Amino acid sequence: MSGPIPEQLIAEIRERNDIVGVVSEYVQLRRTGKSWKGLCPFHSEKTPSFNVNQEEQFYYCFGCGAGGNVINFVMAMENLPFRDALGRLAERVGIDLTPKAVSPEERRQRSEREKLLELHQAAQEFFVRNLFGDAGTLARQYLAARGVKAETARRFGLGFALPEWRTLLTYLQKQGFGSADCLAAGLALEGRNARYYDRFRGRLMFPVCNGRGQPIAFGGRVLDASQPKYLNSPETLIFSKGNNLYRLDLARVAFRERGFAIVVEGYMDVIGLYEAGVDNVVASLGTALTETQARVLQRFTDEVVIAFDGDAAGEAATWRGLDVLRSQGLRVRVLELPGGEDPDTFVRKYGRESFEELLSEAAGLTEFKLRTIIRRGELSSVDGKVATTGRIIEVLTEIDSPVEQNEYLRWAAAMLKISEDVLAAELAAHQAKAGIESSSRHRISTRSNNREDGKGSSEASTQRIGRWQGGPGLNSFAGLSVIEATLLRLLLDDRHLIDQVRDVLSPSDFRHPVAQKAMECLLDCQDAGEFESGAAIFDYAQDASVHQLFAGLLSSRTSLPPSQACIHYVRRLQLMQLKDDLKRLEEQISRVESKPLDSNLMYQLDGLLVRYRRVREEISEGFPLEH
Ligand code: UTP
Ligand code: MN
Repeated sequence: MSGPIPEQLIAEIRERNDIVGVVSEYVQLRRTGKSWKGLCPFHSEKTPSFNVNQEEQFYYCFGCGAGGNVINFVMAMENLPFRDALGRLAERVGIDLTPKAVSPEERRQRSEREKLLELHQAAQEFFVRNLFGDAGTLARQYLAARGVKAETARRFGLGFALPEWRTLLTYLQKQGFGSADCLAAGLALEGRNARYYDRFRGRLMFPVCNGRGQPIAFGGRVLDASQPKYLNSPETLIFSKGNNLYRLDLARVAFRERGFAIVVEGYMDVIGLYEAGVDNVVASLGTALTETQARVLQRFTDEVVIAFDGDAAGEAATWRGLDVLRSQGLRVRVLELPGGEDPDTFVRKYGRESFEELLSEAAGLTEFKLRTIIRRGELSSVDGKVATTGRIIEVLTEIDSPVEQNEYLRWAAAMLKISEDVLAAELAAHQAKAGIESSSRHRISTRSNNREDGKGSSEASTQRIGRWQGGPGLNSFAGLSVIEATLLRLLLDDRHLIDQVRDVLSPSDFRHPVAQKAMECLLDCQDAGEFESGAAIFDYAQDASVHQLFAGLLSSRTSLPPSQACIHYVRRLQLMQLKDDLKRLEEQISRVESKPLDSNLMYQLDGLLVRYRRVREEISEGFPLEH
């Protein structure tokens, strides 16, 4: 059969091929208690360490760490790709692998979340086909006129919604989805007499994807000057605007490579910059940045450069968003574009070099705020000067470093043409009124604490997997911590826990790369509503090392903590990460401190200290769990 094989069919093939039966065709197995033992077919040995667990339907070799479910066994044994191994097993139990349409009834039984994901996937495919088909000529011309190559359109999954009233609905219904599902997904709207119609018509479609690159919402742009310019999906079970950054899935690797993230406003800005070769870019989709978005960014980078068009960068709501970024410990710089340009139009007009130049000149948040206030201030009248001074004082108050505060105070006094002493007195009065403790004291206490308890800080992270009472095979995961292993084991044991922790725990919370992948598989498997037996999980990992980890964990004879302890392990895992962060920051701080300080380094140091303090606070507050 061509096209993807439905998960349910894979599960059925797996379930009907008892692993003991299949392995017995290759290896002589003997029953010992609950499991079956034999000589491992994957490495040479004299005493059997190859185990087959009939109850959970997986195998695991305590000697070489090989592990997986029945499909993985046939793949390894016969050196076959997944599909062929599956074909063998299907044949073995008389299942026909020729395509069969999934009935609407079967569809209805899937979990809501999975259904929404599937619905978006189907809609996405439909839109893409339209864009590259006959009906997409105008849309393709539009893209070409804006300098977007077909290749780029493909990479971003761009599509086209046909102008008629219900082409998408008709298509989705043919695929077995109900119109109520389309309504719930935000792809359809309800008209008079309960007549449904497509939300998106005659629009260029931009899929918004989750961290795993699956479409979870759409934005649709008109091809002319009509209004509204963009229509967006509403909030649904799988999409929340404030939690999402457009194309984070594509950009996060580039964040690490370039060391910072660029945040722009619009879909087209991300695409325009990508077209010009700048790919560490995500979009906020025209709203003020939320704490959730800041936390997400903070997981991948230390520094964010905001490249909003000039008007937006000066708005109060934008400033609040920038403060949110800073309070998450991110260094924030603001790239100022010449009037009337957005990143997309700028880079197309002036090229990448010029954009990079602006990037390198982008001022820190404080400097940007002060400049903006001065530029906009009405400095010729007394009233205007008083108002502007008030705004300047607000910004100066936010500065933690006394040295930096003083620098900016002098600069601002000069710009305002008032004496430094007067401005300093105003600032002191304001801080006293606001009951703000001296920022220098605050800072010193942070620093000295750091030295006191910096040493024993990573107790949790030094406990390595060696002490986990698992199979010896788990030792091959150098650096995997007991906390990570325990947490994964708990989640493997009780799938309900995955739903409990999914909002506070993401793959990147794990430090070990294989544990990260394992967590991704757990989420995928849970999303697909699978997971009846331990064996299903193996189908969600491509990587042999993840198979080994799962098999090793499932075979470990440890006494598991009760499932209520799960959230406690999530906390410990995050604590471990925070302590690692702290250590890294300490190193960075002392590296910066050892150099002669110029204003740029001072600025860097300040950013590091803010972040450092934030992490310390999180640790002492018991670190909030929400992302
Ligand atoms: P912009 O108006 O800057 O759009 O809005 P843009 O991305 O530069 O698009 P082009 O270049 O005109 O094609 C920024 C973002 O705000 C949201 C969209 O996410 C858009 O990308 N927006 C804007 C809406 O949701 N609805 C609108 O009507 C306009
Ligand atoms: Mn634009």
